Amino acid sequence: MPLAHPSLTVVPAAVTVDRLTVRRGARDVLREISLTFAEGSITAVVGPSGVGKTTLMGALNGLLRPSGGTVSMAGAGCLDDAGALREARRRTATVFQDHALIDRLPAIDNVLLGLADSRHPLSPWPWPRALRERAVRALDEVGLLDRATTRTGRLSGGERQRVGIARALVRRPRLLLGDEPFASVDPALAQRLALEFRRRVAEGGFTVILVLHQLAVARTLADRIVGLHDGRVAFDGPAAAFDAAIENRIFPSPAAIGG
Ligand SMILES: Nc1ncnc2c1ncn2[C@@H]1O[C@H](COP(=O)(O)OP(=O)(O)OP(=O)(O)O)[C@@H](O)[C@H]1O
Ligand SMILES: [Mg+2]
Repeated sequence: MPLAHPSLTVVPAAVTVDRLTVRRGARDVLREISLTFAEGSITAVVGPSGVGKTTLMGALNGLLRPSGGTVSMAGAGCLDDAGALREARRRTATVFQDHALIDRLPAIDNVLLGLADSRHPLSPWPWPRALRERAVRALDEVGLLDRATTRTGRLSGGERQRVGIARALVRRPRLLLGDEPFASVDPALAQRLALEFRRRVAEGGFTVILVLHQLAVARTLADRIVGLHDGRVAFDGPAAAFDAAIENRIFPSPAAIGG
């Protein structure tokens, strides 16, 4: 049988968003947007503040219910279904924009919370050694091994952000959702963490969707950029094609905001 030309190879979709509408308060923030995220891809979602990037992440991880349309995940199904939602959550990890960490716990315990669904919620026993070792490795991957036992509330903003990333990575998710995961870390560290995501993508079975506010980071890290504007997808294409004209269309200039 002849081999398919690489450009004709169909990469299965890890996540499919079909005519998704999400209402927040009195307003439809996202209006009938459709997107597919190919398995093994890294997508950056960009757009002005308040456009609905966090809302999209919430619909993708099932924390927000759509008011119209569907979100489906390969191997799980449509998130409208309770069983599919459970399975999708098992396969997904989220790095939240506000970190969502418990300050009074040591960093390693926050990372272990990423594995909370792998043991009984009322278990009185200490975390099994194998899971603790996994959490230690995740902290090492984000460069925080020496902070493992530090109370999370005492960490810097960038360190807290990295605890949030470790808590997501420790789950070994198939889908990683990151809501501005590099906002508080310096560019060199962002690059290092991005390489870690790339390494995992190369291993297979891993798909990444990141909200990024620095366009330069989005262009270097992502295969593809999705630009949101006014509740809709205003750009969807290779990172290299996201040029100045598109940037000006999606991000209103300061003069436009002022006037
Ligand atoms: N809990 C809520 N109740 C009502 N409206 C909300 C709620 N959360 C967000 N919104 C509104 O939904 C819109 C989209 O918010 P969202 O947080 O998704 O924006 P964003 O693109 O992530 O912005 P940012 O770049 O500032 O993080 C905003 O207009 C916001 O005011
Ligand atoms: Mg946001």
